[in-house]
Amino acid sequence: MILLLIILNIKISNLQFTKKIATNQLYQKKTTKYYQTKMSRPNNAYQIAFDKSTNDKTREDFWRDQTYLVDWYKKPDVILDRSHPNPGFWRWFKDSRVNMCYNAIDRHVGELANKTAIQYVCGYLGTEKAYTWAELLDNVSRLAGVYRKLGVKKGDRVIIYMPMVPEAVFGMLACARIGAIHSVVFGGFAAKELSGRIQDSKPALILGASYGFEPGKVINYKQILDEAIDISGVDGIKVLLLQRGDKVTAPIKVGRDFDYHSSMLFAEKVDCVPVEGDHPLYILYTSGTTGQPKGIVRDTAGTCVATSWTMQHIMDIHKGDVYFSGSDIGWVVGHHFIVYGPLIRGATTVLYEGKPTGTPDPGQFWRIIEKYRVKGLYTAPTALRAIRKDDLNGDWIKKFDISSLQAISMAGERCDVPTYEWIQKHVPVLINDNYWQTETGWIISCNYKNLYTHPIKPGSAIKPAPGFDVRILDQDNKEITEPNKLGRICIKLPMPPSFMLTLYNNDEAFIQKYLAESPGYYLAGDSGYFDDTGYLNVMARIDDIINTAGHRLSTAAMEEALLKHPNIVEAAVVAKVDDFKGEIPIGFVVAKQGGNINLKQFEKECTAIVRLEIGPVASFNNCILVDKLPKTRSGKILRQTLKKIVDGEKIEKIPPTIDDASVIPKIQTDVENYGLLKKKNASTQQPTAKL
Ligand SMILES: *[C@@H]1O[C@H](CO)[C@@H](O)[C@H](O)[C@H]1NC(C)=O
Ligand SMILES: *[C@@H]1O[C@H](CO)[C@@H](O)[C@H](O)[C@H]1NC(C)=O
Ligand SMILES: *[C@@H]1O[C@H](CO)[C@@H](O)[C@H](O)[C@H]1NC(C)=O
Repeated sequence: MILLLIILNIKISNLQFTKKIATNQLYQKKTTKYYQTKMSRPNNAYQIAFDKSTNDKTREDFWRDQTYLVDWYKKPDVILDRSHPNPGFWRWFKDSRVNMCYNAIDRHVGELANKTAIQYVCGYLGTEKAYTWAELLDNVSRLAGVYRKLGVKKGDRVIIYMPMVPEAVFGMLACARIGAIHSVVFGGFAAKELSGRIQDSKPALILGASYGFEPGKVINYKQILDEAIDISGVDGIKVLLLQRGDKVTAPIKVGRDFDYHSSMLFAEKVDCVPVEGDHPLYILYTSGTTGQPKGIVRDTAGTCVATSWTMQHIMDIHKGDVYFSGSDIGWVVGHHFIVYGPLIRGATTVLYEGKPTGTPDPGQFWRIIEKYRVKGLYTAPTALRAIRKDDLNGDWIKKFDISSLQAISMAGERCDVPTYEWIQKHVPVLINDNYWQTETGWIISCNYKNLYTHPIKPGSAIKPAPGFDVRILDQDNKEITEPNKLGRICIKLPMPPSFMLTLYNNDEAFIQKYLAESPGYYLAGDSGYFDDTGYLNVMARIDDIINTAGHRLSTAAMEEALLKHPNIVEAAVVAKVDDFKGEIPIGFVVAKQGGNINLKQFEKECTAIVRLEIGPVASFNNCILVDKLPKTRSGKILRQTLKKIVDGEKIEKIPPTIDDASVIPKIQTDVENYGLLKKKNASTQQPTAKL
């Protein structure tokens, strides 16, 4: 104990010391632009952890050593259950008994009762409210009581379709408390998308809200929810409805809808229910390549351990610290860095309902950091680009005292170099570009604030996290070992704790999508390479997923939506590189013959139909009418070629399988006339290889 205290002390004082050095270096040595640090731990601490966690003989020892991060009802005897013939289905800590809610709330209340657990800030209304740990426990245990009363049992699904309000977080934790499985659906999704998730997960209950905000608009969440339930055709769902404020109230469907506030008044508090280590904590839907939603299922024990490890070693967040993730609880980042991550560590989490800019201004993130003494910020490159656009010289940043801030992590897409350099110039802390996916549950590759901080290389995701044995494979599943050579990013099985258990109710699709193509590996679906210092660089997707403003969406789903238009016979949607959103979807449609088309009106209808079917989250604002799509002789649309055209790239080689090569110059003209290629600038140099 004493020894531990001494080590802890040394570590803390070293940290403060090195922070000063880092800042000084920045001002003295103009040539060293990026944040540098000397950590108290040796250079090889990262390497030791990585090697131990990826060596098959020591893998289990590594994770057994991390089980102290969690309070167990029953500790795991078997660390990795390898009984399934397919290592994609091996289970971590399966024979343990544990509860996520207990680890995120109950165990901290004795010590932290009157300290802030959740700091809610509403940028739209300019309001804020703090919840202490005791209040959080009170709200969550009562809400769990409401769930019980409404018939929700262990293993039942609860969909949460809410704006970023504290009750949404209570709703997630209350599920975990009784072993119900939450599925949070991002509020930007339209009724159609929501109904698909209802159909797939068949929830016993939906936690909803009367309304939410978008810049300059109030969104009627209840109406969307009512529509979605109708479309889904799923019976017997109950709705627990939060009426926000007293101005706008949503109509209640008697017998189906229950009022949140009045239900809470009479609710009994419910205690944590120990669950099996591999009991699902949540389902989170991502866009599938076919337009069918894919429900990523995540376990409880592995998620407790890996999330806590992440906060400790990657974020350097500990009891009493303040963490602010400017994401949304509808995304995996929100699950882990707004809700479970900070709370499991006993840290305060900032829950922010607002935008990076405009609610009220581009200083909002820095204002929050100053006010609550935030230590770590999690955001997305797209948010930083939005702030940068309004604050090129960092004047807004200078207005606030952000000296409490020690690191900015970000994910959602690879951070482009200009954005990286801008933020580093104005905020001299560790800028940590994280690469991960909903599927993996935590960060595949990044830098490590509290293990060893590698020298920065903008645009790179630095080094794979312990447990992620990342390999680059070629088309024949042969490993590419030379540096700087592009291939498919794969992770050698078994995956570390918190990796998805499966796709909900669809083991076969899970195998097909992720495990079948390269036996023995998880296929990440991205292309990338290791550079000559072993840094991982992530490039483009190898399937039809588009990443727009940090949201991963399926272009196939958008094509399906377009095809619902009575006058469209063919549609192709491709991703165009966009300085602001990373990528934006561009639609190409072929209309039925014969009709006179009002072009403006037609294009408007096309964008409207995608907005209706997928939601505003798709950022689908461009649709180009063409005579013919480029296709192979077997009828496959040449989407890669279309992508090159919208990106303004030269088409060096027209695919030999093309059916009618004259289509290409015609489309190039259509795209030019549409005005898509205004100012095109060469992006960063990329290594070449065929995929
Ligand atoms: C929290 O505040 C209450 C009421 O003021 C007090 O009785 C209690 O001892 C406090 N708990 C802690 C852990 O400080
Ligand atoms: C929830 O938290 C609030 C603090 O804002 C508190 O007033 C309330 O009593 C708590 N409990 C319930 C059941 O709402
Ligand atoms: C293109 O990028 C280069 C360097 O990144 C820059 O100097 C140049 O001004 C840019 N051109 C345009 C048209 O944006």
